[in-house]
Amino acid sequence: MAQNRFATEIYFDLNDKRKIPALGLGTIPSGDPKGVKDQVIAAVEAGYRHIDTAWYYGSEKYIGEALRELSAKGVKREDLFITTKVWPSFYHSPEKSLDKSLHDLGTNYVDLLLQHWPVCLRGGEDGTPTEPKDKDGNLLYDDDPVTGEKFIDVYNAIEDIKLNTDKVKSVGVSNYSIPKLKQLLPNVKKFVPAVNQIEYHPQLPQKDLTDFCAEHGILVEAYSPVGGPGAPVIKLPYVNELAEKYDVSPNEVINAYHILENRSVIPRSSNLERIQTNIRLPKLTKDELRTLYQIGVVKPTRYTNDPWGYGLGFRYWKGDTLSKNFD
Ligand SMILES: NC(=O)c1ccc[n+]([C@@H]2O[C@H](COP(=O)([O-])OP(=O)(O)OC[C@H]3O[C@@H](n4cnc5c(N)ncnc54)[C@H](OP(=O)(O)O)[C@@H]3O)[C@@H](O)[C@H]2O)c1
Repeated sequence: MAQNRFATEIYFDLNDKRKIPALGLGTIPSGDPKGVKDQVIAAVEAGYRHIDTAWYYGSEKYIGEALRELSAKGVKREDLFITTKVWPSFYHSPEKSLDKSLHDLGTNYVDLLLQHWPVCLRGGEDGTPTEPKDKDGNLLYDDDPVTGEKFIDVYNAIEDIKLNTDKVKSVGVSNYSIPKLKQLLPNVKKFVPAVNQIEYHPQLPQKDLTDFCAEHGILVEAYSPVGGPGAPVIKLPYVNELAEKYDVSPNEVINAYHILENRSVIPRSSNLERIQTNIRLPKLTKDELRTLYQIGVVKPTRYTNDPWGYGLGFRYWKGDTLSKNFD
């Protein structure tokens, strides 16, 4: 791979014979979700063809506006890859959640529908509240967060949408640990998840999980590639050393960390210039990729530690008091 290749040119094969662009745009809004419209337009005009969203993010309406504007400029829907997700409080009605997303996005299908978390929270018919709590502030689950199996039914219901409608092309999961995948895989109806979207960056070593996914033909997508707000990962001295060596930005080093190891990556930014320039793919060596990985082996850090994720069997989950030893 020549050093001047662009990340936007790379596509990976999914296990259902479809393809996914390696670089996608994340769309959790930073502040006002209206800003996501211009972020999507800037990204697509810079060559991105993959947009990652979710009903939960509240940005789908603005992505829809961007898609309409891009369509008027000649960008075809079929050239874009759009992902959305079913949030735990909407677990009881994945198709209804998807219909809301499709309505806001202004499209009649998504390329990938993910189960956002293998968790069932007690949301109402419309999926709200998204984080239901009792009067003491404890999350209200509809199934035991550690031992429950309802999350498997949710994935099966997502499979049904693919089986019975034209509303999704591929189906997958997000935030699945090895123990949760081991529970799910013998129980899929027809479709092994095409994707598992997880937090991944050089500070969070997860070779066991990525190897497990590879063995089962599941593509790993890296979220929070620079660690989310404050972008702690791009402050790592070795990331900056590589950025200088290859004359690219630290963000591009991080994208390459994933793409060169066959993981799709979905950075976000509210800074349009940052979106547009985050597309070169430096050809890091195997040794450099290994050294980046070792940063997390020495000092593992997970930035997403949401309370509903306790008990999922992930390593390094701060405050996890529910998981047993799953190894
Ligand atoms: N499946 C899931 O449960 C899940 C969970 C989290 C995220 N995701 C997906 O993954 C996407 C990306 O993850 P993320 O939103 O956690 O964030 P991320 O891409 O790791 O980090 C984004 C943050 O880093 C900042 N940043 C990036 N480059 C910077 C630079 N060079 N200098 C200073 N600040 C910089 C951005 O600020 P600026 O806006 O100022 O650039 C923004 O606040 C999400 O948008 C979403 O689509 C999925």
